[in-house]
Amino acid sequence: MARRNRMILLSIILIIILGFSINNTTRWTAPSLESTNEVLNLNLTNFVDLRIGTENEGHIFPGACLPFGMVKVGLDTDFSKDFHAGYTVRGDVTGISRTYLTNIKVIRNLHVSGTGGEAKYGVISQLPIVASLSEINLSIIKSPRSFERFTPGYSIFGLKRYNITVELTATRRAALHQYTYPENASNNSHVIIDISHFLQQACAWCTGKFHDGAIYSVNNTQVKGMGRYSGGWNLGGPYKVYFCSQFDTPAIFYSTWWNFLITNTSFDVGADGHPIGAILTFDTKSTRVIRSRVGISFISATQACQNVESEIPNFDFIQIKREAIKAWERELEKIVVEGGDNEAKTIFYSSLYRTMLMPSDRTGENPKWESFDNNGKIIPHYDDFYALRQVDIVRSLIDIYKNEGYMPDGRSGLENGITQGGSNADMLLAETFIKNIDRNSEIDWSLAYQALLKDAEVDPWSRGLYEGRLFLNWYKKLGYIPTEVLTRMGYAFSQCSRTLEYAANDYAISLVAKGMNKKMDYVKYRNRSRNWENLWYPKEFQGFTGFILPRFSNGKFYTEWDIMDTYGGVTPFYEGTSWEYSFYVPHDIKKLIELSGGPIKFEERLDKTFDNSDPYRLYLNKYFNIGNEPSFLTPCLYHYIGKQWKSVKLIRDIMKTKFRSDRSGIPGNDDSGAMGSWYVFHAIGIFPNAGQDVYFINSPHFKNVTIKLSDSSDSILTILAYNLSPTNIYVQLARLNGKFWEKTWFKHSDIGNGGKLELWMGANVSETWGVGKHLIYPPSLSEEAVETGLPFISSIEPDLVVDEVLEKK
Ligand SMILES: *[C@@H]1O[C@H](CO)[C@@H](O)[C@H](O)[C@H]1NC(C)=O
Ligand SMILES: *[C@@H]1O[C@H](CO)[C@@H](O)[C@H](O)[C@H]1NC(C)=O
Ligand SMILES: *[C@@H]1O[C@H](CO)[C@@H](O)[C@H](O)[C@H]1NC(C)=O
Ligand SMILES: *[C@@H]1O[C@H](CO)[C@@H](O)[C@H](O)[C@H]1NC(C)=O
Ligand SMILES: *[C@@H]1O[C@H](CO)[C@@H](O)[C@H](O)[C@H]1NC(C)=O
Ligand SMILES: *[C@@H]1O[C@H](CO)[C@@H](O)[C@H](O)[C@H]1NC(C)=O
Ligand SMILES: *[C@@H]1O[C@H](CO)[C@@H](O)[C@H](O)[C@H]1NC(C)=O
Ligand SMILES: *[C@@H]1O[C@H](CO)[C@@H](O)[C@H](O)[C@H]1NC(C)=O
Ligand SMILES: *[C@@H]1O[C@H](CO)[C@@H](O)[C@H](O)[C@H]1NC(C)=O
Ligand SMILES: *[C@@H]1O[C@H](CO)[C@@H](O)[C@H](O)[C@H]1NC(C)=O
Ligand SMILES: *[C@@H]1O[C@H](CO)[C@@H](O)[C@H](O)[C@H]1NC(C)=O
Ligand SMILES: *[C@@H]1O[C@H](CO)[C@@H](O)[C@H](O)[C@H]1NC(C)=O
Repeated sequence: MARRNRMILLSIILIIILGFSINNTTRWTAPSLESTNEVLNLNLTNFVDLRIGTENEGHIFPGACLPFGMVKVGLDTDFSKDFHAGYTVRGDVTGISRTYLTNIKVIRNLHVSGTGGEAKYGVISQLPIVASLSEINLSIIKSPRSFERFTPGYSIFGLKRYNITVELTATRRAALHQYTYPENASNNSHVIIDISHFLQQACAWCTGKFHDGAIYSVNNTQVKGMGRYSGGWNLGGPYKVYFCSQFDTPAIFYSTWWNFLITNTSFDVGADGHPIGAILTFDTKSTRVIRSRVGISFISATQACQNVESEIPNFDFIQIKREAIKAWERELEKIVVEGGDNEAKTIFYSSLYRTMLMPSDRTGENPKWESFDNNGKIIPHYDDFYALRQVDIVRSLIDIYKNEGYMPDGRSGLENGITQGGSNADMLLAETFIKNIDRNSEIDWSLAYQALLKDAEVDPWSRGLYEGRLFLNWYKKLGYIPTEVLTRMGYAFSQCSRTLEYAANDYAISLVAKGMNKKMDYVKYRNRSRNWENLWYPKEFQGFTGFILPRFSNGKFYTEWDIMDTYGGVTPFYEGTSWEYSFYVPHDIKKLIELSGGPIKFEERLDKTFDNSDPYRLYLNKYFNIGNEPSFLTPCLYHYIGKQWKSVKLIRDIMKTKFRSDRSGIPGNDDSGAMGSWYVFHAIGIFPNAGQDVYFINSPHFKNVTIKLSDSSDSILTILAYNLSPTNIYVQLARLNGKFWEKTWFKHSDIGNGGKLELWMGANVSETWGVGKHLIYPPSLSEEAVETGLPFISSIEPDLVVDEVLEKK
């Protein structure tokens, strides 16, 4: 299963109300509340199903937020394992029945979505309850669900124990809660604020922590406070979260509490790790509905209040909800698909939705520094990112470099980390550069270039798990990361996969250098991007020769390395096998084919990779794992041997079997929208080679796809698939911008200002399109090498004979 948060690149910015019941007998019935009866004239939001990926390690956050919103408010359950986004429907461990529904423990205002590794956040919690004040036991507050319904920008659910209906919606930096208490609750209606909550994990070293916090002030309509937390996903250091929770109705009683005891002191309850919070009591005899707006800030409690007061100027739940839903609708409308079945449309828009949950737009909320551009405008700041919103995110990455020394590969809770391979911000920068996506020249490219060179040249040493390229000096000295690092550190650490990724990063940098006319750098990094060849060894396995293998610094290979070892553990190959990674040379597939024994052998190897009958693949995903990024490109590699149709068939099979509209419909962690983006691209029939200027043409799932390419211009890309049907999946003929198009790929400049891709579909593989000797394959580095006559000589002559592994060990 995927545990990978690596940055995934999409070159077009990708970016709601389907009711459901958690169980047929507890089907949702709309409470007779004004706000839920509203009919919004919306279309695409209707296709987003937030249940998808809430089970089977998808780790999807189903709560309420804006696209890229900083505040993500949702219900968290009391099931303690692996609930990265706080929510789970039911238990899935031995002894707990699959239909057991977990309790709602709390409502929390900050979350991440789709992450692997460990949970993060789940902080600043608030829950309405009904009880007589003297009988409240603050340590055992939770409730079964009576119903729940999640839609983009809006959630509604019932707390069965208290007979309370909760509704949630959000703005970028604030959440609006609406609690409807039961008729007879009278003056037993409370709201409990708890700042000691966070998402816990079973492992002691990886779990988040609550250090301390404070309630600065409480009165009958407002509570201000702060919590200090650390750990979780990137094992990051402490960060403070401030909040300002305001109520539309004056409380009849309010107090702080400390260690679950209502202290009845109002101010500054220090914590020292003890749970602390506040309690407000309302008399709901005359008004059953209590609204609370909660502002969040990473700067100060005062700013948290300002955030909430400016974004939610009154307590108009209907209005804020409507704006949130509309914000989603606007983003989803950037890609309109027609002419496909509703199931496909549901998976499509749900996937598209998930690509916009993260990163979190924290512009104006960076406590470490504040940056302004030449026009005096604040530079955008994003956190929790492992995925995209191109120009703004690139600016944020560069700004982080400027202030902290490296661009993040992943970042959360104000800190860089964890790296899983290369310095993959390089890929995003390069792609933005070569595709000329920064149309308004908002990016400081000379600073960006410095950031790239820092990644390529400066070994981050002990910080290598958090930023830059771990073991970079080895890579620079030898052209690969040697296996000794394994023995010296006592365990392996992705030496092979890091080498492969560094080479791909170097290629990306070379493209930027080329575009900036920095010839020496271009030659240097282009040359360095061939370093992957240093780990290629002609080992034979299952009839195939040539694999990426671990290698010692003396040049000898660890030839006994098991090509299928080992999934999930800490090995020279991060979350993958040598078999999988021996395809990961996105910039020089031509050379890869050559080293693999030529096109015929390469095709056989690809076929083997996707052969369903092989037990390795079926049960262990050892040849190919769609649930993880290293394999993302592999299905498109048939394009490099003139067999586009094989990619088409295969991708359709993967989409059909691995992506569904049920709760476990995502293969592995969603990885902050990465799985979603893989699906979205393939559903519209194209797929980018990340970090390069290449889009493969595959086979759309919709007859008519309309993509708005930018917010600021009218450029539209239309993809039309004539004659498309469940059986007519193969491209017979293509036309791009009115011209017949022979290639099975195109460049961004072909569509960057808008364009029209027309495909004629048929049931049989075309004998004329996408095949034949004349066909121009997508570009590869080694073609260019021939053109420029630049040499590549490995600094070490491999000794193919000796194998001293055991000795070394
Ligand atoms: C639905 O929930 C009820 C009550 O919790 C339970 O008895 C029943 O088995 C559930 N049915 C399904 C299909 O999960
Ligand atoms: C639940 O509802 C679905 C869809 O309406 C139906 O197919 C299924 O049979 C129902 N299950 C039960 C246990 O009622
Ligand atoms: C949404 O629905 C309205 C009317 O129901 C229709 O006029 C409009 O074209 C639809 N928009 C899209 C993007 O499908
Ligand atoms: C609250 O509940 C906890 C857990 O059941 C229990 O240990 C504790 O004694 C209770 N506190 C009071 C004041 O009843
Ligand atoms: C509250 O109780 C009433 C009456 O039993 C019931 O109809 C309603 O669904 C309950 N609401 C919630 C949120 O549990
Ligand atoms: C409110 O009414 C419900 C159902 O009639 C009952 O179970 C509950 O105890 C009552 N709550 C209070 C606070 O009286
Ligand atoms: C709540 O109502 C009860 C009965 O009406 C009354 O005795 C009690 O003082 C009230 N409590 C508060 C905090 O107002
Ligand atoms: C509660 O605090 C807020 C913010 O400081 C203030 O506006 C409000 O007047 C206070 N309410 C009372 C009753 O003092
Ligand atoms: C809290 O303090 C106020 C004022 O000192 C007092 O009136 C009230 O009864 C106290 N409440 C509790 C629960 O101790
Ligand atoms: C495709 O969709 C676009 C936008 O909805 C529409 O303008 C166009 O007419 C459609 N084209 C075809 C051929 O259906
Ligand atoms: C597709 O191929 C089959 C078998 O070769 C042939 O019978 C059929 O006529 C072909 N269909 C079309 C539309 O060409
Ligand atoms: C290319 O790399 C090889 C091996 O690291 C090195 O020997 C050679 O000098 C490099 N060539 C250029 C032009 O940088």
